[in-house]
Amino acid sequence: MSTQQDSRPAPQAPDESPPQTPPQPRPHSATRSLLRLWPYVRPIRWFLTASTVSALLASLSALVIPLVLKDIVDGPVAHRDTAGLWQQGVLLLVLGLLEAGLFGLRRWFVARPLAGVERRMRADLYAKLQRLPVSFHDRWASGQLLSRATSDMYTIRLFLAFPLVFLIVNSMVFLTGIGIMFTLDWQLALITVLPAAPLIVLCSYFERRYSAAARLSQDQNGDLATVLEESVLGIRILKSFGRHRTMAARYRAQAELLRETELKKARLLANLWAVIVGLPELALGASLAVGVVQVAHGSTTAGTLVGFLSTALSLRWPVESLGWLLAYSNEAATATDRFYEVMDARPADAEDGPVREGTAVAVAAGSTTASAAPARDGIRLTDVRFRYPDAPAGSPDLLRGLDLHVRSGETMALVGLTGSGKTTLTALLPRLYEIDGGRITLDGTDIREIPRARLRELVSMAFEDPTLFSASVSENVLMGAPEASEEALERALDVAQAQFVRALPEGTATQVGEQGLSLSGGQRQRLALARAVVGAPEFLVLDDPLSALDVHTEALVEQALRQVLAETTALVVAHRPSTVLLADRVALLAEGRIAAVGTHHELLESNPEYRELMSGERTGGGAGTASGEGTEDGSLVR
Ligand SMILES: Nc1ncnc2c1ncn2[C@@H]1O[C@H](COP(=O)(O)OP(=O)(O)O)[C@@H](O)[C@H]1O
Ligand SMILES: [Mg+2]
Repeated sequence: MSTQQDSRPAPQAPDESPPQTPPQPRPHSATRSLLRLWPYVRPIRWFLTASTVSALLASLSALVIPLVLKDIVDGPVAHRDTAGLWQQGVLLLVLGLLEAGLFGLRRWFVARPLAGVERRMRADLYAKLQRLPVSFHDRWASGQLLSRATSDMYTIRLFLAFPLVFLIVNSMVFLTGIGIMFTLDWQLALITVLPAAPLIVLCSYFERRYSAAARLSQDQNGDLATVLEESVLGIRILKSFGRHRTMAARYRAQAELLRETELKKARLLANLWAVIVGLPELALGASLAVGVVQVAHGSTTAGTLVGFLSTALSLRWPVESLGWLLAYSNEAATATDRFYEVMDARPADAEDGPVREGTAVAVAAGSTTASAAPARDGIRLTDVRFRYPDAPAGSPDLLRGLDLHVRSGETMALVGLTGSGKTTLTALLPRLYEIDGGRITLDGTDIREIPRARLRELVSMAFEDPTLFSASVSENVLMGAPEASEEALERALDVAQAQFVRALPEGTATQVGEQGLSLSGGQRQRLALARAVVGAPEFLVLDDPLSALDVHTEALVEQALRQVLAETTALVVAHRPSTVLLADRVALLAEGRIAAVGTHHELLESNPEYRELMSGERTGGGAGTASGEGTEDGSLVR
């Protein structure tokens, strides 16, 4: 899919050109795109029909008005019969009221159902975004997804409410009006209609140009949203590095691109409009001149000419509206394409794919039947290979035939240089990414045979970068186990040394995250740790869980964590010797494999690489790792 290119600007290189807009998809018909909306439109098809019928009746009643005018001119006016006038006057009034009432009714029919359509589409898109694997989100810029979920949805709803109905209604009104004009005076009608023929060719030319511009504009909107989002989230970094001006320049450049596209759209529309408005105007002038001559010669009545001209005039709106109705339909078609690009995304690895079940019983039977179950095997990785889908071509695999066995009940520390793949390895266990080769088993069951929901219950994670959601402390922690009891919550908070929450204004009910109280890096890390341990998971995976803690808190957390680790099988990414000491054994990750396994002391004795790593003499990948100054990152990020 063409838009899956990563168009994120990297904050550390803000001088490069603004993010690229994805290349244009193959052009295809707007109608075909719009037809894909049918599943959403189907439930409200009768409301849409009712709305269209009322609009049609309203417009047709407006078309009757010129005929009444004709009768007035040829009847009461020609015969100077003022008494007959009031009947037709009342008729005109009734027709006017009917038109207004029916148009009101049209709106009433669709407002509520359409809000429902928009809601359903939003819900489906959101659910899809949640189901798509992490690798999808790695590839898509968040602003692109954001704009699809917001402005594109709005465009589609507006299209269904108005342009869709009026494309149908106005065409029918146009044809009816032309019919009336031909009945009234076919010669005048020919003079009026002939110049309109080139309009058809022009419209199809316009449609193609405009839909390309519309697509570009919507993609650029997404890029703009990405830049905006990153600047808002990264505002501290930008400010502290004095980069806010560069970022502002980048934003301006992006906005300028969008402006140019919008101007191009406006120019296209203006050109079309000039012709759409100009041509009929000329035709009308011509038919007026010819008509006056005809009336003078007595070959037609004054009333007919009045009726003819006012019919022609009342067709101006259907014709003039054509330009923007087409334009809007095109935008809606593009919005629909963009919506379905996400909805269609790689169904193969969407996380709702079929799961081979049945073999999951061994694991699902779990801890309660420990003695009866076959010997529990813990976590076993065999010949695991992995590379990121967007890794540079030609680079070696990140993990190349990695073997690791964490015995049941054991705590294994995972150490390695920065960038060696420790975080990646932890993400493979709950299948946030799929391995490219080899096998990972939990208590002997291949993780691909465990239903994902169950797998993620079994494996609990605390990530390197602890994210809190806009919700209360307890909601954030209980994400790890929604059914956990109040005591379990308290215990988890104790283990994580997160007693600070009790001092918050509303205790565990205090709102945190984006919309709530800002917490420090260390505080967030402790809540993330509480989230990981609250469900007493069978397998616990911690990615450097104590990096942002001060030495004192770290010691307290370690003490409490020991009890939790004693009851689970755990893999703990560690940088500091103190964290490593929590583990029974240590595995050293280097060059895509486990280079050595042993106790901390064994490895210190036997493995020079490990010795260097732990002493902090050597730093890998250019960034400091093994020293104990973790807090610096945590506090800068938010
Ligand atoms: N989502 C991703 N997409 C592509 N490459 C990634 C992604 N995450 C990490 N990498 C790359 O994989 C390598 C290992 O990263 P990581 O597992 O985070 O290392 P560690 O946790 O050991 O420091 C790095 O070179 C990093 O650039
Ligand atoms: Mg890491």
